[in-house]
Amino acid sequence: MYISHVSLTDFRSYAQADVELGPGTNVLVGSNGVGKTNIVEAIGYLATLSSHRVTNDAPLLRFGTDRALVRARVQRAKLVTTLEVEITAGKANRARINRANPVRARDILGIVRTVLFAPEDLALVKGDPSNRRRFLDELLVTLRPGEAATRGDYERVLKQRNALLKSARAGGKLSTAHESTLDVWDTHLARAGARVLRGRLEVLSLLSPYMGAAYASLADANKEAHAYYQCTVMADFDAEDSPADAPAGEDGTSRVAPAVLLDATTEELEEMFLAALLNTRDKELERGITLVGPHRDDVLLTLGSAPAKGYASHGETWSLALALRLAAYKVMGEDDPRPGAGPILILDDVFAELDATRRTRLASIVAGADQVIVTAAVASDVPEELGGTFLKVSPGVVSS
Ligand SMILES: Nc1ncnc2c1ncn2[C@@H]1O[C@H](COP(=O)(O)OP(=O)(O)OP(=O)(O)O)[C@@H](O)[C@H]1O
Ligand SMILES: [Mg+2]
Repeated sequence: MYISHVSLTDFRSYAQADVELGPGTNVLVGSNGVGKTNIVEAIGYLATLSSHRVTNDAPLLRFGTDRALVRARVQRAKLVTTLEVEITAGKANRARINRANPVRARDILGIVRTVLFAPEDLALVKGDPSNRRRFLDELLVTLRPGEAATRGDYERVLKQRNALLKSARAGGKLSTAHESTLDVWDTHLARAGARVLRGRLEVLSLLSPYMGAAYASLADANKEAHAYYQCTVMADFDAEDSPADAPAGEDGTSRVAPAVLLDATTEELEEMFLAALLNTRDKELERGITLVGPHRDDVLLTLGSAPAKGYASHGETWSLALALRLAAYKVMGEDDPRPGAGPILILDDVFAELDATRRTRLASIVAGADQVIVTAAVASDVPEELGGTFLKVSPGVVSS
């Protein structure tokens, strides 16, 4: 798919801007701070209803305004769809599809699919586990929008269970009433958690081979890149059941998902989760918080035999984060392989960070995408092989 036109009203630095884009490669060039990322952020927003830079919508509204509009014309094979999202401070966002009556913003999810790589993605490798969990969860929801509800259920039960643990701790000991309520929450948590876990394991197994291949083709790798799910539910599991080549986690003690977990059904995962909750109950009551479950899991990324976090060089970190996004791009493409339905690939500020060889390699990896949108401060950072149309971004204006 591709976006042929984007229009921004009171979005970030733009009072009003119109950007014409074409299929294939589009390069947005302009000095630091002129508003290149703002444009790709708006496009990403249409796909995910969230920004890759901020967790709430307020900074997306142009200073002093209380409403922003992002409009786009999306071409998917022969089908043209016009999308409009209204972002309003302190109110539910609304959307319109093909200029019809407003609908809930989330009704447009799935119409545009993007994979956005930006400097913030270094956190996928270097940052705390929540970055890696979010990466898996977001891809899962893109592939299976119904999973958003499961995730919501899990968060809700977790909150209530934590509140109960906290109040039990404050009371000094667990009353019988507390105990039976905790049993109920355990059942609910295990049920929703097992589904979250199953989804993540599946997404990671889809991603893994593509991530390894993308890293190898980007980085001339004498080191192989791997990803292992680190599961707190299985923390007590015998390490001998781990895949033979799986290294220990960062702290040397955490375990990676044993094979038994990868093959387990959702029901089996639910049983394992329940058993883990029973095992850790005393510790949890002491701490007043839920210590096992998908909300505490991580993905261990390795280069060669060492964990990437804490060991990888800056360039290696960059290439590995990029490899994860390129893998997500492949997985999404496979999910809907119809011609003209491929996701839009957005590369924000990536070329300046790569050496000449890696630039050329990245250019050839992304060559076949339906649409690639690249931002760069200087045109010479973008390898010639990438080709495409260059657009000049000056403060508030985009021109061809
Ligand atoms: N809500 C807002 N209202 C008005 N201006 C904003 C808002 N949010 C950000 N800006 C401005 O937008 C500009 C940043 O735009 P953007 O991040 O798109 O730059 P860029 O072209 O990607 O720069 P770089 O090359 O440094 O990445 C900054 O000057 C910032 O002050
Ligand atoms: Mg930028």
